[in-house]
Amino acid sequence: MSNLQASNLFSVQGRVAVITGGGSGLGRIMARALAINGASKVFVLGRREDALRETATQAPSGIVIPVQCDVTSKESLESAYSAVAAHTTHVDILFANSGIMGPKMRETPKSDGSVPSLSEVRDALFSIPMEEFTKVMDVNVTGAYYTALAFLPLLEAANKRRPAAQVGVMSAPTAQVIITSSIAGFNRKVPFSYAYNVSKAAVTHLVKALSTNLLPYHIRVNGIAPGLYHSDMADQIFKDGGVAGGGVSDGSHPASLIPLTRSGSEEDFAGLIIWMSSASGGYINGAMMLTDGGRTASVPATY
Ligand SMILES: NC(=O)c1ccc[n+]([C@@H]2O[C@H](COP(=O)([O-])OP(=O)(O)OC[C@H]3O[C@@H](n4cnc5c(N)ncnc54)[C@H](OP(=O)(O)O)[C@@H]3O)[C@@H](O)[C@H]2O)c1
Repeated sequence: MSNLQASNLFSVQGRVAVITGGGSGLGRIMARALAINGASKVFVLGRREDALRETATQAPSGIVIPVQCDVTSKESLESAYSAVAAHTTHVDILFANSGIMGPKMRETPKSDGSVPSLSEVRDALFSIPMEEFTKVMDVNVTGAYYTALAFLPLLEAANKRRPAAQVGVMSAPTAQVIITSSIAGFNRKVPFSYAYNVSKAAVTHLVKALSTNLLPYHIRVNGIAPGLYHSDMADQIFKDGGVAGGGVSDGSHPASLIPLTRSGSEEDFAGLIIWMSSASGGYINGAMMLTDGGRTASVPATY
């Protein structure tokens, strides 16, 4: 078989992964994509045990293992780490994917289309408790950072298992952390919230900082910046826009919102995850993968 066959390039056979936020949305797609394509163990972490179990039932039997975890608690991360370490000697890929949107925090036009006065904007935004802003940072930034730290020993253990280098043969990929950011980290008005956008800009920088600082340990750190994918978090956007079927077919969204006129699909996301997790994804480090149908390339608009 040629080394350039897709089954070689994109093989995730035997990989062990940990996915926070694996009980729904993009985390569930990650878990199913890896489990269906030959990963040996996929640990899904989150607060809702029933949601994690549902992910396990949607994957080949016994591969997906639910582990209850709140990423905003060091104790919870420690105990999740111990639970994972009881089942595996190593982790090849850690997805720090948990995230919340938080409350809408943006100056929006009034129902008659006019721009609100500055004092209306100030009142609306200042009335939101500081805790609501901080909570978004707690989950999306602090949570991702401590998740990465918590799992470093198992990632290092994956590197120690790599076969010895052979001249002329591509070496196996080193361990990897993948953090889910968002196009909100680049765009100023997408989607709805100062807190969310600032948090995603922060984790985009976290990818850069961690990838640089973990270079000596050969633990790679990459990020994904999705545009609009249907999920629990994004559901209201689809409802507000009257978008059916997950919006994955052409014409589902106005071109002024998403140039390709559709949302990202399960297949779009699964393919990206498989490639990043596979042998042919082994040379990416410190990169942010944009998957947004060209939205970041255009002048942003919203519903
Ligand atoms: N869908 C999109 O269009 C889109 C676009 C850009 C970026 N993203 C990012 O993609 C990631 C996944 O979001 P999604 O769209 O798949 O939405 P989702 O279905 O709402 O998933 C969010 C996940 O985060 C978990 N979570 C929230 N707080 C947590 C905590 N304290 N501890 C542990 N887990 C926690 C939730 O599980 P529990 O509630 O069970 O804890 C849930 O499974 C997020 O980082 C999001 O910002 C999504």
